[in-house]
Amino acid sequence: MTIVNIEDLRRRARRRLPKVVFDFIDGGAQDETTLRANRADFGAWELLPKMLVDVSRRSLATTVLGRAISLPVMIAPTGMSGLATPRGELHAARAAQAAGTIYCLSTPATCSIEEVAAATGEPFWFQLYVMRDRGATRAMVERAAAAKCGALVLTIDLALQGLRERDAYNGFTVPPRVTARNLLEVLARPRWIADMVRGPRLTFANFTDATSAGGGFINLGKHINAQFDQSVTWKDVEWLRSVFPGPLVLKGVLTARDAQLAAAHGAAAVIVSNHGARQLDHVPSSIRALPEVVEAVGDRVEVYCDSGVRRGTDIAKALALGARAVLVGRPILYGMGALGPPGAARALEILRAELDNTLALLGAPSPAALDSSFVRRR
Ligand SMILES: Cc1cc2nc3c(=O)[nH]c(=O)nc-3n(C[C@H](O)[C@H](O)[C@H](O)COP(=O)(O)O)c2cc1C
Repeated sequence: MTIVNIEDLRRRARRRLPKVVFDFIDGGAQDETTLRANRADFGAWELLPKMLVDVSRRSLATTVLGRAISLPVMIAPTGMSGLATPRGELHAARAAQAAGTIYCLSTPATCSIEEVAAATGEPFWFQLYVMRDRGATRAMVERAAAAKCGALVLTIDLALQGLRERDAYNGFTVPPRVTARNLLEVLARPRWIADMVRGPRLTFANFTDATSAGGGFINLGKHINAQFDQSVTWKDVEWLRSVFPGPLVLKGVLTARDAQLAAAHGAAAVIVSNHGARQLDHVPSSIRALPEVVEAVGDRVEVYCDSGVRRGTDIAKALALGARAVLVGRPILYGMGALGPPGAARALEILRAELDNTLALLGAPSPAALDSSFVRRR
């Protein structure tokens, strides 16, 4: 099968991963209304090219929080990336480094902050979920600071885990459990089984003994709901700013109100995101929410955007609407699920080539050249 685009990686990942794993990566909450909107709403914008502009010299470079990156696409934090391929976080972090962009490590990752730091020697970002045990939370933030993480990304849209019904039907656990029902289907994926048997045991590597899940098969939703603090408020944003010396980024903003509160509480940037439609169903797609957030705080904080980005044209639309950069979650996991470790770099390469093509054909030789004159609502 020839791989041309991100959807090709997705199709190949679907064939290579057991259904229980593919669905965990691919699925959204409940009726997946927002999941569909994340794709469909990019289609609600058309691109308006400017012809006869000199695009012979192009660059995709930009900066985020003062750091130069060579393409305006960062890797979003995804828990349990080791399900796509063993040590998935390390491969994704190395792919970001090779592409000259930023990797964001998730709290429930299968590789630790220290392992990613040792693998890349580059300042990646760390995404935090606040745990009930504030001492353990503080210790995790201090480890991120010690590893010179360039930003702390606080995810604010997960008071509880969203209701992901594919996972409920599949009996998803960490590690995935082979049952009478899925045995044949799992056996039909021998490469994935071999990878998992040869690879290290899947664990929540950032958690110390006191906060780890212990052994056995863990229901991720139940585990998260038991460990993570549901009483987090804007006050805690200030607490985290006092604990982490670098910039704080708030991930999961969908309204002007929350964007303004984020700016007022000292966030350096916000990520317009619906968590890849994995949390509350029926919230707006992020490309729909983006303009109001940019309008509210774009002059005060940097605005990034994720959820549903699959094409260079999607990235161009987000940038034209005022995002400084986008993040991608599933494209990287599809890549690694399809091709193993090299798949993360392949996904970034596809997006880079598509964005370069888009900018050239739009008559915008760099991200900075894009503005709202390049897009129009259908
Ligand atoms: C399998 C998976 C695990 C995720 N885990 C986390 C996580 O641990 N922390 C977090 O802030 N976001 C998490 N996300 C959300 C991503 O950071 C990001 O917002 C989302 O994937 C973007 O949408 P996209 O997958 O359509 O690109 C996860 C997403 C997926 C698909």
